[in-house]
Amino acid sequence: MTDLPSAAELPEHADFVVFGATGDLALRKLLPALFQRDREGQLPDGFRIVGVSRTEADDDGFRALVADALVEHVPASELDAATVQRLLGRLRHLTLDALDPADWHRLAGLLKDDAPRAPEVDPASVVRVFYLAVAPSLFGPICQQLDRAGLVTPLSRVVLEKPLGHDLASSRAINDAVGEVFAEPQIFRIDHYLGKESVQNLLVTRFANTLLEPLWSSRWIDHVEITVAESLGVGERGGYYDQAGALRDMVQNHLLQLLCLVAMEPPTYVGRENVRDEKLKVLQALRPLGPADVDRDVVRGQYVGSGQGDRAYAEEVADGATTTETFVAIRAEISNWRWAGVPFYLRTGKRMSERTSQIVVQFKEPPHAMFPGAEGAPSANRLHILVQPEEGMRLHLTAKEPGPGGIRLKPVSLDLSYAAAFGRRTPEAYERLLMDVVRGNPTLFMRRDEVEAAWTWVAPILEAWRAADAAGARPLPYPAGSTGPAAADALLGRDGRTWQELDR
Ligand code: BG6
Repeated sequence: MTDLPSAAELPEHADFVVFGATGDLALRKLLPALFQRDREGQLPDGFRIVGVSRTEADDDGFRALVADALVEHVPASELDAATVQRLLGRLRHLTLDALDPADWHRLAGLLKDDAPRAPEVDPASVVRVFYLAVAPSLFGPICQQLDRAGLVTPLSRVVLEKPLGHDLASSRAINDAVGEVFAEPQIFRIDHYLGKESVQNLLVTRFANTLLEPLWSSRWIDHVEITVAESLGVGERGGYYDQAGALRDMVQNHLLQLLCLVAMEPPTYVGRENVRDEKLKVLQALRPLGPADVDRDVVRGQYVGSGQGDRAYAEEVADGATTTETFVAIRAEISNWRWAGVPFYLRTGKRMSERTSQIVVQFKEPPHAMFPGAEGAPSANRLHILVQPEEGMRLHLTAKEPGPGGIRLKPVSLDLSYAAAFGRRTPEAYERLLMDVVRGNPTLFMRRDEVEAAWTWVAPILEAWRAADAAGARPLPYPAGSTGPAAADALLGRDGRTWQELDR
């Protein structure tokens, strides 16, 4: 049973309107993703892409820009000329100042009247996607203009990119403004981590197999680690990042979404709302953090130069006094029947030693040691879920080393690599997500209540850091290229545990 549209069900006619079409996200991620879907034959003939931006460019100028972006962001072996031409043929561009009401009739003209859509196509049957790859301060104003210009039909959808606010109040304000024009089922809030194949596979691994789920609770699991480590710094995004920091940029969305998928209960089936209902319950069950908890259970760090000629974060953003965190580690707990007493350790940071996203589910020691004379100790089982760059799973077991002369216990691992198992290209997160918007499948998008529950949980951390800043405190320094501040190790050390190595 499901209430979802089938994967094959795509509308015959769709207008995919990208606001911010000449920006980094559109050129680096969205248009290459649409190219890949076109190459797979998924875009119907009646699929148009309308780029809207303030850049002075006509259709051909925009096509040239996109052609260059495809060369830069699609592997050469996948860039076939026929698909490039087909995709470029779908493109239109409109130079428009989103805040100037006088400009909007031109978008209305293009969507309602222009070729190449044949006159016999009923405009009410055309799916309209409005993708807002722009600053969140424009979300409300753009939605209002779309409404005033009469462009919002029942088959219209709006896609919002993060950051969805910088705290609970601003997130609510954005949601209210967008909600005046679009009903909740028409609003698609992107968290691109949910589009990653390895992240979707988490649900399949848990719920399409019988092996793990009976063990998936405080009865057998000692703790869970969720790490999203990046080796790059903030690069050109310092302006945005210095206002955000790792907690808003990564934890409030990506890490908490991963936590939800690890911890949620199985819904009866995968449907429009019920996966999101279950994720919401996890967010609501997170134990709230008071000021003393933040002090004890949250570590904030900021990278400094490692002495190898690399720059400190403060130098990159040219503000020696910045207290923006580039690293966060948190000890979280979920107060429900399944997870009571199981710590979930979260960590994320820029300029760490490796780029890796992984989830470690550490099982408990066997209840009884029955090989007393054996060499080596049984190591507790561990499931390593590799999200990126390597995608797969590693189950750590204890085995007997072959040979006579007593029993020698050795840790071994069962390795599953998706690349080896499936032997085909893994689609980028945006490919799946963009097609889900077009076909109207909201499962992998964040609902308003989820976003707000996540903000509610991080709010005391933001508050405690504000107070700490006012008292002159600073994030803990960690050398670029390291695993973060020593305090992050102490967070687990205090519980008698250690983080798994990043490169395992
Ligand atoms: C984005 C953050 O949402 O995710 C970036 O804003 C971060 O700061 C990026 O680098 C990480 O995404 P990925 O897919 O490269 O892990």
